[in-house]
Amino acid sequence: MKKIAVVGSINSDYFVEADVLPKTGETILGNNFFRALGGKGANQAVAASRLGAEVSFFGSVGKDDNGYFAKDTFMQENIVTSFLLFENNAHTGAAFVEISNSENRIIVIPGANSFTNKKYVENYLEQILKHDIFIFQLEIPMETIDYLIPILYEHQKIIIVNPAPAQLIKQDIIDKITYLTPNEHEYQEVLDQPDSSMEDALTKYPNKLVITCGQDGVKFFDGNRIVHVPVHVVKAVDTTGAGDTFCGAFAVALADGKELSECIRFGNIAAALSVQKKGAQAGMPFKKDVDQIIKEERIDDTERDIPQN
Ligand code: RIB
Repeated sequence: MKKIAVVGSINSDYFVEADVLPKTGETILGNNFFRALGGKGANQAVAASRLGAEVSFFGSVGKDDNGYFAKDTFMQENIVTSFLLFENNAHTGAAFVEISNSENRIIVIPGANSFTNKKYVENYLEQILKHDIFIFQLEIPMETIDYLIPILYEHQKIIIVNPAPAQLIKQDIIDKITYLTPNEHEYQEVLDQPDSSMEDALTKYPNKLVITCGQDGVKFFDGNRIVHVPVHVVKAVDTTGAGDTFCGAFAVALADGKELSECIRFGNIAAALSVQKKGAQAGMPFKKDVDQIIKEERIDDTERDIPQN
């Protein structure tokens, strides 16, 4: 199987839960607090590894308890940790996640993630190039993306960029990305097309731009038509990390050689399963869980095809 490298962020997630979120200037009493490993990069790596891929992580943490906790968790999740940088001069990234009614709002303080910079990837370039599929997010410096993607492109690697938190990506970098996976709120800013409709944006980037639309599923343009891949419907408890589970699973399906729409379907099922527990990683499924749903859906489809007398 192809090897996946995640070049990205690690955060400690501090979750606070309340029935409603406070308005500006208001203080409220919440009803739950917990801490868990997160960060879009770490989440995507865990998702991909649980689904059976060989995953290496390239990123940075502080020399603090949260950093060591991240390394231990990665090791338990079978993720290669040899390239983790323990930075003296910064704390491990931190994310403050407010949850209410299964929805969330997040503020990220990058901390050590800022050290996953050009110098860091230059240092590990030889090891980086031993991988086949790359996943990036935008919680590390943009200089890393601008430096590394042209090199990976030259080496004909598969490059997935999950552009969150949304920031503009230069056109010449977009041209070198294999799959760009913004959500419906992010794509205009990332592509610098503030007034563009989703249809126009998708049509401009056939088989590259994959827009996730929450409960409305995922859309891409296949060169002839806009393809809509519906979500797998479940009751959500906490949607934090659902997009990350999608990206990790999407990469695994690509590594398996699946077609684009099949990769999206695999990602959608994995993401749906992940929202049934609180925290970004707690509900992430294993391969057998996703395969089981695919099997059940196939049986349903077959039953629908049997003519009823
Ligand atoms: O996508 C969810 C993640 O966003 C959280 O784990 C948090 O750390 C932020 O990076």
